[in-house]
Amino acid sequence: MKIAVTAANGKLGSSIVDALIKEIGAENVVGIVRTPEKATHLGVEIRQGDYNSREEFNEALKGVDKVLLISGMDDPQKRIQQHRNVIEAAKQNGVSKIVYTSIIGDEVNNAFSPVVQSNRQTEKDVKSFGIDWAIGRNGIYIEPDLEYIDNYKKDGEIRNCAGDGRCTYTSRKELGFAYAKMLLNDELNGQVYNLVGDPITQQELADLINKTYKTDLKYTPVSYEDYKKERVEELGDFIGNIIAGIYKGISDGANDVISDFEKVTGRAHLSTYEMINDFIKV
Ligand SMILES: NC(=O)c1ccc[n+]([C@@H]2O[C@H](COP(=O)([O-])OP(=O)(O)OC[C@H]3O[C@@H](n4cnc5c(N)ncnc54)[C@H](OP(=O)(O)O)[C@@H]3O)[C@@H](O)[C@H]2O)c1
Repeated sequence: MKIAVTAANGKLGSSIVDALIKEIGAENVVGIVRTPEKATHLGVEIRQGDYNSREEFNEALKGVDKVLLISGMDDPQKRIQQHRNVIEAAKQNGVSKIVYTSIIGDEVNNAFSPVVQSNRQTEKDVKSFGIDWAIGRNGIYIEPDLEYIDNYKKDGEIRNCAGDGRCTYTSRKELGFAYAKMLLNDELNGQVYNLVGDPITQQELADLINKTYKTDLKYTPVSYEDYKKERVEELGDFIGNIIAGIYKGISDGANDVISDFEKVTGRAHLSTYEMINDFIKV
């Protein structure tokens, strides 16, 4: 049984590779990466695969039984064909199952929606190729908030336009565990799963960070328009708008979804407090 993971050297890819190694051993895992020299730490066979190259994936997927396709990072419209390159090459190589990492989010109402729409199109493509499949919709990773802690401390606050909206955070480590199960357990085939933890507000997030980091952050809700302006000034048009769109989605309830994590893994998702503590330990 050979299982391949695309974008394997990325943070999510590495976490899925680690989880798979624990389950089936390094000799059965293949990491497919755009930049092989960035993947030596993984400890598995590495093959070349840029999402833009159908030819590279034709080679990379030879002899592979199952593949995990990690959502790309490019312009949302461009991603659709990039993902098709992987799915078509999987079909051509007789890969028996494809698992795709999609995203939770609102398909229409905000600046993040084009990314969500692009993911939904790939979900349709994955379902339509006649290969066994399973799809996860990832919640928002908790790690970027925690990596931002020094800025939060400097500002004394978490500030965004999520308001009282509840968000189901997850972590790349929890996702790695879940995707390994989705790849290995064929009883999970043919379903879309929300891979998320418990829903919390931004005030609750601030409280949990305060409890763990011994900080005294407050949560300050601001309007969507003000937040967008601030983010665009700091991060530029593309990312600034997307970040504002994500928090608008949280405010509108798009990230307050029922979790399927336990259905997939057989255990409860870590609480947000446990994920924060886990992050600090690493
Ligand atoms: N749920 C969330 O909160 C959230 C947040 C951010 C992103 N995401 C999504 O989750 C995915 C994984 O996130 P991450 O944290 O693992 O990101 P990451 O650490 O930045 O890794 C991104 C990976 O994508 C690879 N990649 C980029 N363009 C590629 C291409 N054309 N062909 C093949 N590989 C390519 C990168 O390869 P190189 O090392 O060669 O560049 C890298 O391995 C992202 O792609 C994004 O769609 C989700």
